[in-house]
Amino acid sequence: PLPRPFGVPLPVPPVARPVRSEHGTDFYEVEQREGRVEILPGRRTTVWGYDGIFPGPTFTARSGRRTLVQVRNSLTVPTVTHLHGGVTPPESDGYPTDLLLPARCAPGQTHDGMAGAHPGRTAVGYRSYEYPLPQQAATLWYHDHRMDFSAPQVWRGLAGFFLVSDQEEDRLPLPGGHRDVPLMLCDRSFAEDGSFRYPAHHGHDTFPDGVLGDVQLVNGAPWPVLEVSATRYRFRLLNASNARRYRLRLDAGDGKWGQFVQIGSDGGLLAAPQPLDAVDMAPGERFDVIVDFSAFPIGSKVTLHNSAARGGMRDVMRFHVVRREKDDSRVPSRLSASFETLSPGRAVPVRSFDFRRTHSADERQMWTINGRPFSTDTILASPHLGSVERWRFSSDFHHPVHLHLAQFQVTARGGRPPAATDAGWKDTVDVRPYEVVEVLVRFTGYKGRYMLHCHNLEHEDMAMMGNFQVI
Ligand code: C2O
Ligand code: CU
Repeated sequence: PLPRPFGVPLPVPPVARPVRSEHGTDFYEVEQREGRVEILPGRRTTVWGYDGIFPGPTFTARSGRRTLVQVRNSLTVPTVTHLHGGVTPPESDGYPTDLLLPARCAPGQTHDGMAGAHPGRTAVGYRSYEYPLPQQAATLWYHDHRMDFSAPQVWRGLAGFFLVSDQEEDRLPLPGGHRDVPLMLCDRSFAEDGSFRYPAHHGHDTFPDGVLGDVQLVNGAPWPVLEVSATRYRFRLLNASNARRYRLRLDAGDGKWGQFVQIGSDGGLLAAPQPLDAVDMAPGERFDVIVDFSAFPIGSKVTLHNSAARGGMRDVMRFHVVRREKDDSRVPSRLSASFETLSPGRAVPVRSFDFRRTHSADERQMWTINGRPFSTDTILASPHLGSVERWRFSSDFHHPVHLHLAQFQVTARGGRPPAATDAGWKDTVDVRPYEVVEVLVRFTGYKGRYMLHCHNLEHEDMAMMGNFQVI
């Protein structure tokens, strides 16, 4: 039996605390381990969580201040941690074959999925990831990125928020404190006993769309409810689903709909806020939005609704407007004064990446970029550090295309101007079937090998990934 919608309060993941801070660096320790949590009422679910919880703890970090995270692997499988949206040196970027083997694993012991591991880049027991964060305030997230196994390992819980703040954002009178709420949206399925149910892995032909669940979770709780005051709230929406896309709307009942005011995208604040009636969100994307509940009478029930889904999955969560509260927050008409719109004139060269399903000689499906499945030593592009390039993504399917390291701006979609929801600095963009999306990418931060890939995690595990080398 599925849980009753809007029956449990929205949990908010705890904030991680540094074990020490010195010389401009905050040191954290986090342990990947099993945890037993109650997701479905009266049932126990074993999660693979950072610190045994799902979502993992929320890291709050400062732009330009170094965060060092020592991850200990107390699970029984190798892991890889990637900070999605982070401008991170290549050694710490969570390349899929840079494995962290379990603490209980003797050196030399082999694991499935270890083929192709980079010798010397495999750690045993623990590994330190260094995040210098030369980037603006933004909602990032971290998740597992193990070669061939990201989808089942994220499904079991290896994901959390990583929020970067900066002075520019501090100065804005946006809602804060308990009215700044991260919302991790993902769907899962469960077995009768409450355990996560993930279909047998590597069914290449079985799940062309990726794996969908039949229970909608927000911050790990099924169809939760949040009591709110009739004021402004800031919600950091993250689509952490393996494969599900959302078209989010605010259903206030009686044919009335609420509005989002978008203030930030994947990479940080927009130049100016923009009102949105609906938010389209593909796996990996984030939307930073303000919702003003003073638009609704006290007692209103406002449902976050996914019109891209069917049946019970159309409900996501609910807000109960229960009280009045003093509200000093505002959404200023200028947000990021430092926002720079990239101009196509400077952008050379132009490169094309075609995301396509093909068939190998033995008729197995392969998910390819420019006709190739992933290989660690094929470099698809070598952009220069500091340059801006024009990249074109085409596809035969819905493929949320994600770049590590680099942020981009969408300049065209299907030959037309980008959609409102394409605004701002992005690291993930949904490329729809038979559509071409053009972006201007800026390569800043570090030289080295990074990846671009489809963020449908099942496609990613089926090798829809490629390398680029910043030179
Ligand atoms: Cu969120 Cu390479 O991934
Ligand atoms: Cu895909």
